[in-house]
Amino acid sequence: MKLFEEVHLRNIVSRNRLVVPPMCQYSAHEGFANDWHLVHLGRFATGGMGIIFAEATAVEKRGRITHGDLGLWSDEHIESHSKLAHFINLHGAVPAIQLGHAGRKASMQRPWAGNGPLDDVDISSGDMPWEIVGPSDEAVSEGFIKPTPLETNDISDIVDAFSSATHRAYQAGYRALEIHGAHGYLIHSFLSPLSNHRNDKYGGDLKGRMRLALEVTEAVRGAWPVELPLFFRVSSVDDVDGGWTLNDTVSLASELKTLGVDVIDCSSGGISGSATAARTKRQAGYQVPFAKKIREEAGLMTQAVGLITNPTQASTILKSGSADLIAVGREVLDNPTWALHAARQMGLDESMESWPQQYGWWLSRRAKSSILYSE
Ligand SMILES: Cc1cc2nc3c(=O)[nH]c(=O)nc-3n(C[C@H](O)[C@H](O)[C@H](O)COP(=O)(O)O)c2cc1C
Repeated sequence: MKLFEEVHLRNIVSRNRLVVPPMCQYSAHEGFANDWHLVHLGRFATGGMGIIFAEATAVEKRGRITHGDLGLWSDEHIESHSKLAHFINLHGAVPAIQLGHAGRKASMQRPWAGNGPLDDVDISSGDMPWEIVGPSDEAVSEGFIKPTPLETNDISDIVDAFSSATHRAYQAGYRALEIHGAHGYLIHSFLSPLSNHRNDKYGGDLKGRMRLALEVTEAVRGAWPVELPLFFRVSSVDDVDGGWTLNDTVSLASELKTLGVDVIDCSSGGISGSATAARTKRQAGYQVPFAKKIREEAGLMTQAVGLITNPTQASTILKSGSADLIAVGREVLDNPTWALHAARQMGLDESMESWPQQYGWWLSRRAKSSILYSE
């Protein structure tokens, strides 16, 4: 299995195994995508990545993390998304989207505004807090809003919201879809015994805590065309004593497989605190062992993510059978043409033919000359 080999996911073909994972831009207004999202995602498509995920997109207005989140909670949002999907597709990549609900981590400040609960300064600039929901009434951390525990009957509205947003995602032109089941947001907060203290059928043992994840998946799979791939992002471990474990994830992944999930996207952490907060020290490829175990034991495709920054590192992960897809996040923010450079570095595109011709024509000629400054 090679980095620049095509990969077939149901009826979709990705030109390589490189994925841009969802990365919130906190730059939308009332959930609508705008030119920022187009340029942000578009440069990864012209930069040679295979599958490009639009950020966590709220299925309900109250399920936004911040006022700047993207949404698909109404038909009116579809057109703004269709511009993103169209451009990504035009440039040879698979347009994809992550659907989510922030649960008890909703109504927060944008990261650069403090990552905390909305405060007086936010309110004075018009960013009002809103009522949030969760599995139980515990706030995510001290000082944050207490969620209202979801009534058993309200849960079916959330499942329906995922299903409606899935229909809209298809209408917008996305051709791969991911359910956000990680980072302490609604679905993960039901999975983890640290945040789920319910005693109805959505709580208690592993089966009860997995119920919401499985109901959402069943609804989304039912609304998403059978020829298109479905991803599910997990926090493989909570990395907190008494929390969600890797063995729990393997059990969940096995169930998800029977419901028609094609790829498990293996992240971790975030049950409380910031999005992916955890105890374990971050190091290169720190989540790859999760992808490997889930792939081996649940028997479905996995996506490795987290500090994968180098093409040789990415190739080694694939060749060792740890994962089927490689997500590169912050590194492509730093260098959106990372994939094109990687192909060249591996000797696969000496003449820069996979570059957009508007750039490649010039750069391949410049590369043959020795006129660049060197010390
Ligand atoms: C700006 C930014 C926004 C993010 N937003 C999301 C998101 O919307 N959904 C999600 O599941 N993860 C999100 N993440 C996590 C990334 O998808 C990815 O898992 C993480 O950055 C680790 O990969 P990296 O080391 O290649 O950046 C975000 C990360 C960044 C840097």
